[in-house]
Amino acid sequence: MINLSVNIKEKDVNYPIYINNIDINNLKKSILDEIEHKNYIVVFSKKVHKLYSKILDFPKDKTLVLPDGEREKIYKNYLKILNFALSKKLKREDAIIAIGGGVIGDITGFAASTYMRGINFIQVPTTLLSAVDSSVGGKTAINSAFGKNLIGTFYQPKAVFINVNFLKTIDEKQFKSGLGEVLKYGFIEKNCNPDYEAQLINFLTEHNEKILSRDILTLKNLIKMCIELKISVVQKDEKETGLRKILNFGHTYGHAIETITKYKKYTHGECVVEGIKFALNLALKKNLIDKEYKFLCEDLIKKFDYEPLLKYSLDKVISVMTNDKKSTDKFIKFILPVSYAEVGEFDFTTEQLREICET
Ligand code: GLY
Repeated sequence: MINLSVNIKEKDVNYPIYINNIDINNLKKSILDEIEHKNYIVVFSKKVHKLYSKILDFPKDKTLVLPDGEREKIYKNYLKILNFALSKKLKREDAIIAIGGGVIGDITGFAASTYMRGINFIQVPTTLLSAVDSSVGGKTAINSAFGKNLIGTFYQPKAVFINVNFLKTIDEKQFKSGLGEVLKYGFIEKNCNPDYEAQLINFLTEHNEKILSRDILTLKNLIKMCIELKISVVQKDEKETGLRKILNFGHTYGHAIETITKYKKYTHGECVVEGIKFALNLALKKNLIDKEYKFLCEDLIKKFDYEPLLKYSLDKVISVMTNDKKSTDKFIKFILPVSYAEVGEFDFTTEQLREICET
């Protein structure tokens, strides 16, 4: 069992993250102990419910099952959670538990943050992506027709339970989606932890086969490494006023592709990987990095066998990126690599971007 914790001093927030591979049938007891056996509801991803509802054994009348997929992270489902919680007469001291991937965690977290101005919230991530990234740090959101995650809050969970056994049953596409966020952490590691030597790029290079074959101990270590990096960032900058922006590496371009393809064609992680490749090209053209580092990063990405995405019109991509919540009236903001495992923030006008991309 690995126990980590997030400590946000200004808000007096401190919560545990449990990473283990114990039998999944022990999870309910651990969660109920954590919420001191208060009243609760569980919001399940449909896929996870189908596979694990029996073994997890939560009562049916406390369970709400929501469909999977980024296109379901919408107002209608947010409202379903609130109405379900209201119908069960949940009070603020009670709890809402999310069991599923990033979509379920984000939408349930948003509902929890607005239910009676904030009810206890438990994250049980069941995908690699939610385990290494979205379940920790308190970002909650729903999507809108204008783009991804444009409506949301910062709301920290009361606890995060990561059981690596869930990763045995996610499909390959979802697993690789999570690896997209893992790769991101490799390329930003020095910013997260300026005092330490970067290790994640080496770990990914050395253990890529064990990772792809989902060796449980390797995955446990990988998740721990990523979450430690995330914790060190979130503790310094919960609200993304500075340092936390680095976690958006690969996301400005990636979100645009997700929006253009209406979340149907590619997973989030595939789009992040494409965004990382776009950022590497941009960084090379601006002389921020040399060819050797670009090749090193591209080689590492190749080890994880991503299919190349279709090419989308630059005008279309730029127009969507101007709607990104990090963009301002004048500039599109990118996190770009500047040296080994290190990134920085850079502003581009749409004209500058077009000029660089077209040369
Ligand atoms: N997923 C990026 C963040 O939590 O800031």
